[in-house]
Amino acid sequence: MAWRNTSDSFGLVTRLLHWLMALAILIMLALGTRLQGLQPGLANLWLYGLHKSIGLSLLMLVLIRLVWHRISPPPAPIGDPSALSQRLARAGHIAIYLLLIAIPLSGWVASSASGIDTMFFDTWVVPPIAPVSEAWENAGWAVHGALTKLLMAVLLIHVGAALKRQMEGDGTLSRMWSGRA
Ligand code: HEM
Ligand code: HEM
Repeated sequence: MAWRNTSDSFGLVTRLLHWLMALAILIMLALGTRLQGLQPGLANLWLYGLHKSIGLSLLMLVLIRLVWHRISPPPAPIGDPSALSQRLARAGHIAIYLLLIAIPLSGWVASSASGIDTMFFDTWVVPPIAPVSEAWENAGWAVHGALTKLLMAVLLIHVGAALKRQMEGDGTLSRMWSGRA
């Protein structure tokens, strides 16, 4: 089983990162939306901790994923790379990467600004990256909320496009799932 990508196939590392992160992100979008409607208290504090810890793990994973793509470049898309749909797909992937950096960072900024310790899976106090300030906290949450809505929209298009290509039988989805088209 190949770990690395080749010029026409996705290796195990890229595929594992894609599907593991896809699952975690869907859980995080649901969990975050749930937290938004909650009154923070002792009974639900663990849910906040879980959301923050998975969110910071995702930030590390996205950076690892970007480094991995430098070490082992992904295959060229199937079909004509100059077609509008391919250029839109590429723009969508870049948007997803940017959002997956900006979303956890904005959550980390807002959590730091709240003045409450941010814990990583109950074991490690994450260093603050913003001053304790209501203005920073409000701005951080506003950005976090808006960018997560944008991510939901981009992902809907991403998944829709993947399913459309699967129905057309062009091998793009099979290649991300099993490596080869
Ligand atoms: C929900 C969270 C998801 C995220 C954040 C995500 C992100 C990405 C990104 C950034 C790429 C570019 C290649 C790479 O860097 O690995 C990609 C490729 C791909 N994704 Fe997703 N994805 C998600 C879910 C899905 C789902 C649910 C499907 C299928 C139904 C899917 C199908 C694909 C396919 C087929 C490709 C390969 C495109 C190509 O070969 O050009 N993705 N995804
Ligand atoms: C990829 C990573 C992340 C995703 C997809 C995500 C997603 C979300 C979503 C969808 C919401 C609801 C926002 C709204 O409806 O206004 C939310 C809220 C929240 N997020 Fe995240 N988040 C991520 C990372 C983080 C990180 C790293 C932290 C903190 C270190 C964090 C802390 C919070 C908190 C505390 C809330 C509740 C805010 C409130 O009650 O007003 N999130 N998140």
